[in-house]
Amino acid sequence: MTDISQLAQELSAESPRSILKYALQHYDNIAISFSGAEDVALIELAHKLTDNLRVFTLDTGRLHPETYRYIDQVKTHYGIDIEVLFPDTEAVQQLVSRKGLFSFYQDGHSECCGIRKVEPLRRKLATVDAWITGQRRDQSPSTRNDVPVVQQDTTFGSDERPLVKFNPLANWSSKEVWDYIRMSEVPYNSLHEKGFISIGCEPCTRPVLPGQHEREGRWWWEEATQKECGLHAGNLIASQS
Ligand code: ADX
Ligand code: SF4
Repeated sequence: MTDISQLAQELSAESPRSILKYALQHYDNIAISFSGAEDVALIELAHKLTDNLRVFTLDTGRLHPETYRYIDQVKTHYGIDIEVLFPDTEAVQQLVSRKGLFSFYQDGHSECCGIRKVEPLRRKLATVDAWITGQRRDQSPSTRNDVPVVQQDTTFGSDERPLVKFNPLANWSSKEVWDYIRMSEVPYNSLHEKGFISIGCEPCTRPVLPGQHEREGRWWWEEATQKECGLHAGNLIASQS
C-alpha cells in the first residue's frame, strides 16, 4: 500500500497539474468535489488530463441562485456530468420544523452543515477510493495552514476502508488560481464580480471589504478557528494539536 505521508512529501513541491496527474493515474475510482467557486480551476486542469472526469457537488438547498446557474454553466462548458448530491429529506424537514430555517445564527453552523453537507458527502465518499478538493493553505490561516497536497482521510475513511484526499491547489495562492482562471478563459461564478471571494451557502456567506481575509465572509458570526463545516473537519484537529 502507498505510504501517503511519504507521497505527500514527494509531491509537495509539484505543480497542481502534476499532483492531479498522479491522482488520476493511480486512482480509477476518484472524483472531484466542486463547490461552484474558484475550485473550477481543478476541473479546467483535470479535463485536459482525462476523458473520464468525475465531478460531484453538494447541493445544500441554500446555495445562491448564481451558484446554481454557474454549476450548470460549468457542466455545459466542459460537456461533463456533474453529480448533484442532496441531503436526506427527513433530516432537513426535522431540523427545519424544530428550529426554523436559520438556526445556525443562534447555535452555530455545525448541525445544519452536518445534515446538508457532511452526511451527503459521507454517502458519496463511501463509494470512491479517493477524492480531490480545492482546499488551499492561504484560504484560512487559522485552519488550513498545514493542508498537505495529499493525505489519508481519517474523517471519512477508516482502516477497513482507506480513503485518500488530494488537495492539488494546496500550495497555490488565490492570485495564482485567479491568474490561471483568467489565462485559461474559464467561466467563473458571477458572485465574484460582486465582492464575494470565498463562496458557500447564501445565508452563511457575505462579500468582504478590501483588505479583509476571504474567510471573514464565511460564518462571520463565529470564531475564525471554528470555520470548518465538517467537510474538512480534519483541519480543526490538525490546527488544535
Ligand atoms: S467549506 O468547507 O468551507 O465549505 P470551501 O468553500 O473553503 O469549503 O471549499 C474548499 C473545498 O471543499 C472546495 O474546493 C471543494 O472541493 C469542497 N467543497 C466545499 N463546498 C462544497 C460543495 N458544496 N460541494 C462540493 N464540494 C465542496
Ligand atoms: Fe447550513 Fe449555512 Fe452550513 Fe449551508 S453553510 S449547510 S446554510 S449552516
